[in-house]
Amino acid sequence: MAPVDPHSYTDGAHPVVSHAALAFYLDFAASTIHASALLTLSAPHSGDLLLDTRALAIHSASTAADPPEPIPFSLAAAPDPVLGSALTLTLPPDTTSFRLTFSTSPAASALQWLAPPQTASGHPFVFSQCQSIHARSIFPCHDTPAARITFSLLLNVPSQLSAVAAARHVARRDPLPSDHHGACDDELWCAPGRIVEEFQMEQSVPPYLFAFAAGGIGFRDLGPRTRVYAEGGDKVLDEAAREFAGVEEMVKVGESLFGPYEWERFDLLVLPPSFPYGGMENPRMVFLTPTVIKGDAAGAQVVAHELAHSWTGNLITNKTNEDFWLNEGFTTYAERRIVEVVQGEERAALNMGIGWRGLNRMMERFKDNMEFTKLKPKMAGIDPDDVYSEVPYEKGFQFLWRIERQIGRPAFDEFLKKYIATFKFKSIDTETFLEFLKSNMPGIENQIDLNLWIEGTGIPPDAMEPDSATYKKICALAAEFKSGKLPSEDEVADWSGQEWELYLENLPTDVEASQVTALDERYKLSESRDYEVKVAFLQLAIPTGCKCYFDEVEKCLKQVGRMKYLRPLYSSLAKCSSEEKMLAQRIFSEAQEFYHPIARSVAEAILSKHS
Ligand code: BES
Ligand code: ZN
Repeated sequence: MAPVDPHSYTDGAHPVVSHAALAFYLDFAASTIHASALLTLSAPHSGDLLLDTRALAIHSASTAADPPEPIPFSLAAAPDPVLGSALTLTLPPDTTSFRLTFSTSPAASALQWLAPPQTASGHPFVFSQCQSIHARSIFPCHDTPAARITFSLLLNVPSQLSAVAAARHVARRDPLPSDHHGACDDELWCAPGRIVEEFQMEQSVPPYLFAFAAGGIGFRDLGPRTRVYAEGGDKVLDEAAREFAGVEEMVKVGESLFGPYEWERFDLLVLPPSFPYGGMENPRMVFLTPTVIKGDAAGAQVVAHELAHSWTGNLITNKTNEDFWLNEGFTTYAERRIVEVVQGEERAALNMGIGWRGLNRMMERFKDNMEFTKLKPKMAGIDPDDVYSEVPYEKGFQFLWRIERQIGRPAFDEFLKKYIATFKFKSIDTETFLEFLKSNMPGIENQIDLNLWIEGTGIPPDAMEPDSATYKKICALAAEFKSGKLPSEDEVADWSGQEWELYLENLPTDVEASQVTALDERYKLSESRDYEVKVAFLQLAIPTGCKCYFDEVEKCLKQVGRMKYLRPLYSSLAKCSSEEKMLAQRIFSEAQEFYHPIARSVAEAILSKHS
């Protein structure tokens, strides 16, 4: 056994699956997918082959020959809590492809099934979120970013629904008996009122970028290669179209900075409010939380981030989750370069400032577990969802910004373009990046302590706080809060959500309840429609023991399932007295049905840690 990734059973001594032909029958009533997969290997193989699965029921394994021969298989009896269950197949001599039939569990960790009363359209809805290690709960695969796949996908859904996927849409058509290859029987597959949406992904991607959604989805065209999709009808679509009107310009800026956009289309899908992230960079079709639609610059920032992944993450991919900073650190850097062009230097500096605060807060969060303040942490036995943090984003950003300062922007820009062109459609590790850096920038290791940046804990001494007038002004105002001074109406007159977010996140954490309520009486932050502001405020208010915000906390936890908000709110409540703890427990028990499984287990982990 030659492990390639601490989060996968993939054996590096064996070939990997390089193509998957998938046929999915979506059973909304049972929250289950009945599926078949024809998997093709990168080279012929005989004997044992291991695949990752989680909570899948495997019905059959057979050769791709006609007639098919059964293939012996076994599923590990007890699932590993992080990895799931290895599926071991014993392949006949020189096997290049084989077929599996299987069903997902209603509790599949990648999927959220929403019943009609839980959606805006009144139709059922399902969506996937595979990063980091949830693709294995949809289909058996080598669920490591070290292995890339192309795929075809048939989604059989009720004909009132539409389906989208992070792939090229080929056709919406009637189901054929020859499509399903044993996913279910002919009668079910071809029943009246069913339709097939067909997709192809010809560019190889890591399995965590596999994504689809189905429901009462509509769309608006925004530009030559961009459409925004959403469920919820005209109002949502109009708002989304307004919010994202500048997307084509951003794609062009991205191309000028990082090289050609290789994915043909850049569509956006606005998900229901339970989507557990701000955004997810699924290729050709970025997934977004509806909370980014708020009519100011912040929505564009999330889009800039997910767009930037088209180069850093989707073209060049981290080999394992230990190299996650190669995805998120580069993307945070690239995002800010795009923001700088489309929104100006001050806005980019403000984002860096919010990031700098976040990075410093993470040092506090991980003070008893400094491993996760490293750029390249050891992840064996660790669930990536449990240690997800701003460290790879912001320390990664700081590292790249440090290199930029050392060699100058023109040289760094040239380096970035060359890096992307050299490694596109490859999965690489940190060591490969460092080798490339050293060979293109001879002597860099004598100017920057590369080892300290990669292996060291904490924030290196040559990291830097951004230097901008707006940023400094806001930090200075926040420092005055301690002595009782609130910012004046004049001072906040032109503040948008991000200025407030920065201000709130820079306030001292040991403030009095009376100070917090005074601030809120003047500026109504607890009722802000901007969740970044609202949550930053509530996070400040909860530890003061002030009970007057319980209602707002409850509303917030029940309306939005984005983990960026659930984590701090549940953590702050769980760290308080028994009254807040009980509130957190009650809200969770009432809201958990509404959360995506990933968010549900993260919230559960927070509550049980502090119970
Ligand atoms: N790829 C991430 C989201 C992610 C990370 C999902 C790890 C699962 C595991 C995405 O690109 C991201 O970083 N989203 C941010 C956006 C923000 C930095 C602008 C988010 O969701 O908050
Ligand atoms: Zn990202």
